[in-house]
Formats: sequence, C-alpha cells, structure tokens
Amino acid sequence: MRTVLIVGNWKMNKIASEAVAFVHELKERLPTLSATVELVVAPPFTALESVRMALGTSSPIQLGAQNMFWEESGAYTGEVSAPMLKDLGCRYVILGHSERRTLFGEQSDSIQKKIRAALKHELRPILCVGESLAQRDKGSTDDVLMQQLHESLSGFTGEAIAGVTIAYEPIWAIGTGKSATTEQAVAAHRTIRRVLASTTSPAITDCMRILYGGSVTPENIESLLASDQIDGALIGGACLQVESFATIARVVSAARSIGV
Ligand code: PGA
Repeated sequence: MRTVLIVGNWKMNKIASEAVAFVHELKERLPTLSATVELVVAPPFTALESVRMALGTSSPIQLGAQNMFWEESGAYTGEVSAPMLKDLGCRYVILGHSERRTLFGEQSDSIQKKIRAALKHELRPILCVGESLAQRDKGSTDDVLMQQLHESLSGFTGEAIAGVTIAYEPIWAIGTGKSATTEQAVAAHRTIRRVLASTTSPAITDCMRILYGGSVTPENIESLLASDQIDGALIGGACLQVESFATIARVVSAARSIGV
C-alpha cells in the first residue's frame, strides 16, 4: 500500500515567530508519527528556515515549499530556486497550484520547467491539477485533467513521472467549505491514474500518490481516505490551526492502521 501523504499548505500565512510556535505545538501533539503516514508543512519562503530549526533533525515532519522558479540562479528578481529550497531542507515543493495559475498567470509550460528543475535537484514536486465549476458543469472535468497532465508532464520519462505526486484540487472546492464528495474525488483520481498509466505504465502509476485537496477538514478526511484511490490530502485552511492539522494526522493514522 502507498504511504499516505498529508501536506499543509500555509499559503501566505504566519510570520516566522508564529510559524515556530505552531511547529513546537504540533510536535508536542504528535510526538511520533505512524509509519503509514508522511506529514509535510509548507510555510511561506520567509518562514522555511525558522520552521526547519523548530522541527530539528529528529522530527518525522517534513518541510515543503509552495512554489519555485526553474532556473538555478541568476538575474530573476524575487524568485527562489530549487537548490535554495534544497539548502533549506525542503523535501517537497507544491507546483501549479490553482492560485498560482489564476492569480499569477502560471501556465503549463512554466509548470513543466519547474517540475523538471525540482526533480533534477531531488525535490519532490506535488503537481496540482483540477477543474473549475464551469468546466465541471460542462462535463469537461476529465478533459481538463487530461490536458493539464499532458501539458505539465509531456516529454518526461516514466521514471521522472514516478517522482511526481499529483494533487487533485477542484478549484470550486478550494477555500469554499464545499469539498468534493468521496465519489467525485475517486472518479477524478481514477481518471488521473488512467491518463498517467497511458503515458507511463500501470506498474509506475500504481506506485504514484494522488492526493485530494479542497476544503479538507478533520470531519471529512476519514471518508475521503476510505477509498484506496486517495493517497492523502493537500490542506489549506484546516492546516493553519494546530488542533485541526494534528487531528487530521491522527485520524489518518488511525484509518490507515498503525496509530500515532
Ligand atoms: P483549502 O485549500 O483546504 O483551504 O480548501 C486547499 C489548497 O488550496 O491546497
């Protein structure tokens, strides 16, 4: 069975001192983690170093970033590179989040370059894909997912694609309190796995994790993860409070056998 991955995307929240206080409390509440669950926090760039220090060397909680640029260094004012994130102890990087696509005009070609750069520097990319409400209402969810996956991953070898985690995040579910139903999420995850299998192989996609994101809470996480199609969650709002993030980690650990 694939290890569950729970990622807290803090977005543009928490100054460094708040981030440190959060991590200390989280560590207290989760002194150990089940071997069946990987837990990641993705603070803003400005808090990465403080969170790394607060986590310490022995914490099972891992560090992720929310974005990066594809070049390694140079005259790119305001950007942050994969080697810089690696140097700060990041293991994961979220790429192609719908907020980046809609608010900052990110397109699949740049997302593709970022994924390539992340893999080159041994960062694990979490590629976000998902449809808008209008696209779902038109019945084009599968086409949108297919297009986003093809555009973001075209030209990659099967081995490279195996290093990517996909997050299915329907845009209409993000920050709205209206999560996809487990059935809707499972259907989308099946489509994603089928599309990936057609460009790689079923053996490769069987090992890949597909997360669900969009209004995940301590209340709905269990039913979402009841399906073995859903390998974890990318969490926004509910990861900002220690209590709810720790509860999610506990619920997931209990649901996927070994307790926290
Ligand atoms: P949400 O955000 O949990 O607040 O809906 C999820 C995300 O944007 O990744």
